[in-house]
Amino acid sequence: MSFAFASNLFHAIALEAHSLGKGVLAGDEIAAKLASGSGDLAARLKAVLTDPAGQRSVFASLRAFAPNIATDKTFVTAYPCDGSVIVTLTADVREVLDRQDDFEVVYEPRMRKITGGPNFFLGMQDGAEYQLNASIMRLAAQRGDVVDIVVPKARDAARRIVAAHPHEIDLPQVLTTVVPALMVREYFGVDTASVPDLVEWTTAMFWYLFADLQGDPVVESKALDYAGRCLSAIDAAIARLDANPGGPVTVLKRAAALRDAGAGGFGGAGIRNNMIGLVIGAIPTISKACVQALDVLLDHPDMLAQAQAAAARGDEKAVGAILFEALRFNPVNPVIYRRATRDCEIASGTTRACQVKKGAMVFASNLSAMFDAAVVDDPDAFRTDRPWDIYILWGYGLHRCFGDAINRAIIPALMTPLLAGAPLARADGAAGRPDAETPFPQHFTVVR
Ligand code: HEM
Repeated sequence: MSFAFASNLFHAIALEAHSLGKGVLAGDEIAAKLASGSGDLAARLKAVLTDPAGQRSVFASLRAFAPNIATDKTFVTAYPCDGSVIVTLTADVREVLDRQDDFEVVYEPRMRKITGGPNFFLGMQDGAEYQLNASIMRLAAQRGDVVDIVVPKARDAARRIVAAHPHEIDLPQVLTTVVPALMVREYFGVDTASVPDLVEWTTAMFWYLFADLQGDPVVESKALDYAGRCLSAIDAAIARLDANPGGPVTVLKRAAALRDAGAGGFGGAGIRNNMIGLVIGAIPTISKACVQALDVLLDHPDMLAQAQAAAARGDEKAVGAILFEALRFNPVNPVIYRRATRDCEIASGTTRACQVKKGAMVFASNLSAMFDAAVVDDPDAFRTDRPWDIYILWGYGLHRCFGDAINRAIIPALMTPLLAGAPLARADGAAGRPDAETPFPQHFTVVR
C-alpha cells in the first residue's frame, strides 16, 4: 500500500475517530503532538500521520478506545464499495481475513485488466479455481528452491553489488530492486526482459493493483501498457523454452513441463497469466521491505549495531530476526482490505462487537495487530525473540503471500552483505531518507 495512500487513509480514520467523540485522540502522544502543531485539526493530523510512529499512535488509541469503527464514509473509489470499517485488534484482524465467505478480495476487475481477460488467484475467492491455480503454481515454484536456488543467487548478487559500492549506495537503484529482479529473470525464468524494465513494469502494476485506491487514470494507463509488455516478455520466454528446452531449472520450465503433462491450469495462456501475478508481487515489495527495515534500524543504533555484528559473522538468521522486527514497526502494507459480501458482525459476543454492512470495505490493520498487547508481549519494545506467528508482514489466512518462504530468506540474504561492512549511516539530507514520491521508494542512500 502506498505511503501516501496510507497517510490519507489514516488521516480519514483519525478524523472519523475524532468525530465519534470517544476521546480516541485524547490523552496520549497524539494529543500532545496535535496541541503543539500549527494549522487546523486536519492539517495537524496530516502532519502527525506522515510518519509510521504517528500511524502507530493512532492505532494504539483506536485499540484502547474504539477497536472496531464502522462508518458510512467511503475511502476507496478504485473498487466498488459502500462505507468502511476499521479493525485494529489481532483477534478481529484474523477473524476478518479468515472469514472468506463474508469478506471477499476485491482485486478481480484489475487483475483481469492486467491479463487482458482471466483472473489471477489473488483476485479469486476460495474454491476449486483458486485451489487449482495456487496449487499448480506451488508445483512450479517449490519450497526447496528457496534454499537451493533463490538464496545462493541473491547472496552472490548482493555481495557483488555491495563490493562495487564500498562507500555509498542508493539501495533501491542498485541493490534492493535489482536482486529480486535477477530472481525473476534467473529463477522464475523471465529472462526475456531486462532488470530495469522488470523493475519499472512491476512497480507500476503493483501500484495500480494494490495502492491506487483512488483510481488514478494515469496510474492505470501506465500499468496496462507495462502489463502488455510484461505478458509479451513471458510469452517470449515460454516460446524460447519450447524451442530449446535445456538449461537450468526455472519456475517457467517446470510450468511448461506440467503443461506438457496435461496439468489443468497451464493450458493456453494459463502459464503466463499465473506467472505475471508472481512477477508483479516479487520486486517492489521486497525492495520496499529492505528499505523500510533499514530505515527503522537507522533510528535504533543499538539494533543496527547488533544487525551489523550478526552480518559480520554471516548469521543470516539473526540478521533476519532483527530485520523482521524492524518491519513490524513499519511494514510494507499496514492494512489489508476486504469487502463485506453480506450484512454481518465481527467480534460477536464481545464488548467491541461491530455490525458490518454489505458492501463495506473492511480495513484489517496488520500493523495495529502486531502491536496488540493481548497477543504481543511488551509490543513497543524492539525484541528479536518473538514467535514468528505474531508477525503479519505479508498477509494472513488463505491469501497469505505466496512468496512467504522466499521473503523470509531473500531479505536477510540480500541485506547481510550490506550490513557486514563498516558501520552504516544515512547520507546527508533528503538522500538519507526513503523518498515518498511514489508508493515505492526510488532512492535511499546510506554511507559508511
Ligand atoms: C516483502 C515482500 C512481500 C510483501 C510485503 C508481500 C505482501 C503480500 C500481501 C500483503 C499479500 C496478501 C494480500 C491480501 O490478502 O489481500 C500477498 C499475497 C501474494 N503475494 Fe506477496 N508480498 C511479498 C513478496 C512476494 C513475492 C516474492 C511473491 C512471488 C513469489 C509474491 C506473490 C504473492 C502472491 C501470488 C500472492 C497471492 C497469494 C494468494 O492469493 O494465495 N509476493 N503478498
